[in-house]
Amino acid sequence: MNVIKAKDYEELGRKAANVIAAQIIMKPNCVLGLATGSSPISTYKELIARYELGDLDFSGVSTVNLDEYKGLTKDNDQSYYYFMYNNLFKHVNIDLARTNIPDGTEPDSEKECARYNKVIADIGGIDLQLLGLGHNGHIGFNEPDEAFATLTHCVDLQPSTIEANKRFFASADDVPKQAYTMGIQTIMQAKKVLMVVSGADKAPIMKEVLYGPVTPKVPASILQMHPDVTIVADEAALSLCDL
Ligand code: GLP
Repeated sequence: MNVIKAKDYEELGRKAANVIAAQIIMKPNCVLGLATGSSPISTYKELIARYELGDLDFSGVSTVNLDEYKGLTKDNDQSYYYFMYNNLFKHVNIDLARTNIPDGTEPDSEKECARYNKVIADIGGIDLQLLGLGHNGHIGFNEPDEAFATLTHCVDLQPSTIEANKRFFASADDVPKQAYTMGIQTIMQAKKVLMVVSGADKAPIMKEVLYGPVTPKVPASILQMHPDVTIVADEAALSLCDL
């Protein structure tokens, strides 16, 4: 894995944006797998700045997002659709018809997962998948488990994930208990993977992901098996790693 160390969260955003910008410039009709959470926000800000400078063109880009809370509508300010629209899509010249996110309002999990798998297959796979990292090693909403889940599925969120995400909701009770997420196989089939990790609270899990055993108990550890992974992490997140 190629690890790029950044001084802080802002520098992390610039360095991660370099990788995504290179992808868009080299292949203007690329498919980007996108992520939510606090980690990629500085990256999205930097991409927007480069678009505003005239250095990036999103008109040919398609996107597939990793996950969405089950039960939230697009206009709910905690939905991942709302996040993507407000943190990236509305600021650049992307065609919204080419953006894809699981539909949190579809109550039939089997139906929605099959639809989303077909979306990803029809689009021809993912050129570059952006990932954050959960404190328990989750990627997307692939929570620690006995086995790696392969394709899009509906997950029961772990108490630690609900706890970590409650800061965005009025209370822990308001955090949805389930989510739709892209599976590990789909993530592993992306041609390139870019993971952004920030903060001292992520240092222990960062160390496990880089040096620990590959195990579904730490879902992101599977990235050790991917042929083209770049991790952009700040000094705090890498503080327990010998780099
Ligand atoms: C969330 C998301 C993940 C994200 C992770 C870390 O639950 N489903 O895709 O990477 O948790 O979030 P953050 O970047 O805010 O620490």
